[in-house]
Amino acid sequence: MNHPESRINELATRIVQAEKNGMIKDAGLEGATGKKVIAILQHAIQLLENDECYVEIGVYRGLSLISTSVVAPHITALGIDNFAQFDKNNSNKTFVENLIRQHQLHNTQLINMDFEDGLNSLEKFLNGKKIGLYFIDGPHDYRSQLICLLFAKKFLSEKAIIVIDNCNYNHVRQANQDFLKANSEFKLLFEGYTKAHPANLKGKALQEAWDSWLDGVNVLVKDPKNELPAMYPPTIRDRSLFFADHRIHPMRNSIFAWRAAKLAAVLKPFQPIMFVAYLLRLIIEVRKRKKSDIEPYPYINSLAKDLPYFNLNKPQIHS
Ligand SMILES: C[S@@+](CC[C@H](N)C(=O)[O-])C[C@H]1O[C@@H](n2cnc3c(N)ncnc32)[C@H](O)[C@@H]1O
Repeated sequence: MNHPESRINELATRIVQAEKNGMIKDAGLEGATGKKVIAILQHAIQLLENDECYVEIGVYRGLSLISTSVVAPHITALGIDNFAQFDKNNSNKTFVENLIRQHQLHNTQLINMDFEDGLNSLEKFLNGKKIGLYFIDGPHDYRSQLICLLFAKKFLSEKAIIVIDNCNYNHVRQANQDFLKANSEFKLLFEGYTKAHPANLKGKALQEAWDSWLDGVNVLVKDPKNELPAMYPPTIRDRSLFFADHRIHPMRNSIFAWRAAKLAAVLKPFQPIMFVAYLLRLIIEVRKRKKSDIEPYPYINSLAKDLPYFNLNKPQIHS
């Protein structure tokens, strides 16, 4: 890189430091982000200017939000979460609000919303600022990952840094790759993966994952001066799973396709106890559904009966 003053250069140096020396400050919190991912966030936020802010999707119990905002109290930090997951006791929102109070973080705000609604109404929370650092760690399905990138794009500063968690998943990398290919002013600066999802790791390997990238990370940057060459996270070339998505959507009870896929997962090699357990669960969940959620067709339900037959847009009259 021949741009000594550039933020991209500085960020690259910071990523090396983050990997080597870890966090700037350990806030002593627990959560679901690897220590070196937090270290990258803490280093990256140091590079923001006053007209930029930090936005995060997926707060959970505040590990990434608080650890990042605590090392840059002059930078506005917004965390979006609807607390739809991993919150059995309904305590996560209050827990994070208490952390914000305890650490006296006047820069930090929790936005209790679905990420898509949050991104669609983000302008009113930004107070004229642009997103300088954006951490994506909410729902990890392909569409949500891509929407997180697409809907935030107009709010990103010219030097924006995007950190994406859980990039061990092929479909997460695919969303990043698709975004990068469609938006050539963004580049992949860094990728780091661990050997597997932490649920599949044990002992030393599991500890190493927690101490580093946990479930993989990608760092994208906005690169309007074309400082970096194009680089893409690797993906599986076979797109069958994405094509299968279309066959799943119109099926009756397709919402439980993942439960049916669990059955397939224990068929070969055959694990009879798991098979029966998963089958029973599938039967229970399907039978619990209301008839109105399932009607009208047994399958190939294109859900079009309430759509207009003819709806023509009209040009606006500008005065
Ligand atoms: C893996 S956790 C985030 C971990 C967190 N960054 C940390 O450092 O511990 C994922 C979070 O995304 C949130 N989430 C899932 N779907 C969401 C949605 N549709 N809108 C907003 N947040 C969502 C969940 O409620 C959960 O708290």
